[in-house]
Amino acid sequence: MSELYNPYDPAVQADPYPIYQVLREESPVYWNKEQEFWALSRFDDIWAATQDHRRFSSAKGIVVGQDLAAGMGDLMPMMIMMDPPRHSALRKLVSRAFTPRRIAEMEGSIRATARGLLGSFIERGEVDFVHEYAGPLPTIVMADMLGIPNEDRQQFRDWSDRLVQVNPNDPASVEDATNAALGLYGYFTPMLAARRANRKDDLMSALLDAEVDGETLTEEELLGFCFMLLIAGNETTTNLISNTAQILSERPETLRTIAAEHSLLPAAVEEFLRLESPVQGLARTVTEDVELHGETMRAGSKVMLLYGSANRDEREYADPESFILDRKTERGLAFGHGPHFCLGAALARLECRVAYEELLSYVPDFALADGAERLLSGPVRGYKKLPITFEPTSISAR
Ligand code: HEM
Repeated sequence: MSELYNPYDPAVQADPYPIYQVLREESPVYWNKEQEFWALSRFDDIWAATQDHRRFSSAKGIVVGQDLAAGMGDLMPMMIMMDPPRHSALRKLVSRAFTPRRIAEMEGSIRATARGLLGSFIERGEVDFVHEYAGPLPTIVMADMLGIPNEDRQQFRDWSDRLVQVNPNDPASVEDATNAALGLYGYFTPMLAARRANRKDDLMSALLDAEVDGETLTEEELLGFCFMLLIAGNETTTNLISNTAQILSERPETLRTIAAEHSLLPAAVEEFLRLESPVQGLARTVTEDVELHGETMRAGSKVMLLYGSANRDEREYADPESFILDRKTERGLAFGHGPHFCLGAALARLECRVAYEELLSYVPDFALADGAERLLSGPVRGYKKLPITFEPTSISAR
């Protein structure tokens, strides 16, 4: 019998929400026999699991199936795959280089990048939104942050695409992603040596100098952090910006309202994140037998925390399938929760807000065109291709 919930099933990729609803109602602790993992789908259960790192560990990887990143763990340890207390120490260290002030200071350059990208396509009246806007924007922001020169950005994006689009059930795609990981490793290693010899005003240099209680990051931890930023921060933000285009194009009235009043964007971004969460789910490993809703998850088994389902749980949100601009949400799981709460949440929110402030200043109305293609990824929900059309204009028109 085929599984009710398999993250790589094309039907789930197309529209996971009806399946999540069945899971929440009928099997809130669901066992996928084929791939041998549990899936939690209700908000409260996931909220609790993210805080319970003792029983729900991140140390054995955070995706189900063959975990490529976990395989890279010795070469480049990543805090997203560690538990406290080591996780807490590392997080404290990198937070030194990732302060709210540093993020806020990036607004001007993010805006200039967004405008530059818009300038290259708004006279055409049509664009593959992912390829020319939602994709390059976070890549350039991240490349700037890390101090990666312009000429290497496309290569950088290519590695990151191949890493996120890995399908653990397809050996060719696993091999491709492994090569991409090794490519990145080979790129970052000499770059780090160069920064060690000669500091610049970039995140890598700040990370080299970050110190807590006399402790600094090891060479491997530093490489791991740069690698993790790529996986954690690039595609996720691309898909937030792409999913937002889809949400708005399906709701012309909301699009008009926001285009006329940009101050509504911060609240709207929270609703975009909730309704189409770019990270649909990440896994933990249970360290002891855990009983929940009459099921026993045996020690050592993988548990998928379906953030995308939690964010539409009717137990947490009234009318969860609707986009409600002035919804007052108290909690959400788009960025996870607990010790691993997304380190880049403020940056992602900033990028999405600025991307739309700029876009809607020139293109107040747009529609989806034929040819959209979903991204084939287990944890990440978004688009590989998203053609849109709009009234042609020019940057000087404003
Ligand atoms: C962690 C989502 C953007 C860096 C996480 C987690 C989620 C998430 C769900 C929790 C992982 C877990 O539960 O195991 C997102 C989404 C983004 C986004 C939806 C965009 C819309 C970014 C950006 C950066 C970033 C822009 C960095 C520049 C990180 C890091 C962690 C993390 C470093 C690991 C934190 C830790 O282990 O303590 N993110 N993220 N993310 N994210 Fe993000």
